[in-house]
Amino acid sequence: MPNVKRVSAETITEAAGILRAGGLVAFPTETVYGLGANAADGKAVASIYEAKGRPSFNPLISHYKDAASAFADVEANDWARELASFFWPGPLTMILPKAKACRISELATAGLETAAVRVPAHEVAQELLKAFDGPIVAPSANASGEVSPTAPVHVAQSLGDKVDLILAGGSCEIGLESTVIDLSDKVPVILRPGHVLKEDIEDRLGIEIEQDFGAKEEGDKPKSPGQILKHYAPSLPVRLRAVDVAPDEALLSFGNLKFMAIRGGGGAKDLPADQHISLSQSGDLNEAAAALFAGLRALDNPKFSAIAVMDIPNIGLGVAINERLSRAANK
Ligand code: TXA
Ligand code: MG
Repeated sequence: MPNVKRVSAETITEAAGILRAGGLVAFPTETVYGLGANAADGKAVASIYEAKGRPSFNPLISHYKDAASAFADVEANDWARELASFFWPGPLTMILPKAKACRISELATAGLETAAVRVPAHEVAQELLKAFDGPIVAPSANASGEVSPTAPVHVAQSLGDKVDLILAGGSCEIGLESTVIDLSDKVPVILRPGHVLKEDIEDRLGIEIEQDFGAKEEGDKPKSPGQILKHYAPSLPVRLRAVDVAPDEALLSFGNLKFMAIRGGGGAKDLPADQHISLSQSGDLNEAAAALFAGLRALDNPKFSAIAVMDIPNIGLGVAINERLSRAANK
């Protein structure tokens, strides 16, 4: 049985103790649930890779209570300090060269010269980081290859009793993993789109930045090891930009259903409740992002032939939503 406990002062203290003893704690962040371990403890980090079935060449993000403690482990530059002052705490992860005195275990950085650091905003994550008082590595708390968990029940379903404690703190507000930006090179590059948008970062830095969301074709070598093509996928095939839905398909809709027909007759609004989830009836991208992973999980039922997903505009947060969807479709 998974060990799920409601967040309280006692369970936060208990969670910090588990981390100190080398155990694993799942906890909420504003993006998705993380599977936490003591970043400095190589054995604890190894058990994260084992619990997730994650390839050990895919490095982890270290989480900190504030920018000062993050910048003790990496070499901050002017871009990093500017972005930290504006976007931290929040859903932004920075890739920077490791500092000489970096506490993060080699395994967590997969032997790279750089490390990924983030200061999460979620109150529970903040309390846990303060109680533990050190860096916590936390990948998304799902088995490798699955969509990320946005509620405690997803963590329990995906990892079960491989986690010593699941801190249940409700659903994640953002619902998509953090924006990852590589600041270790001559030009900043967004490696994973998220809630902090490219245009917001460009406004702060006053320069144009690049984006590279990884391999487009089999065999291309991605910049970030996590960008392997087969990733974040439900078991069912995912069909993108659907303009109608087959009678045996599940539907993940966005916006108005008026013109969405069931092939062979009928309108999508008449689909049974378990065959249709609306990401946002009003077409709100923030609402859709928060509902995306839970929707993919809920519709991933073998009684359907596929999940048909309506078109989502590729602007603002739509860029990050579409990036996750194209991975889900690329199995
Ligand atoms: O929102 C999030 O970022 C969540 C919460 C729990 O904080 N965490 C998360 O972790 O999504 P994970 O492990 O699922 O994704 C981390 C991504 C991977 O794509 C990994 O390859 C990349 O960050 N990454 C980590 N260190 C890196 C490095 N040194 N260079 C390039 N990419 C790196
Ligand atoms: Mg992940």
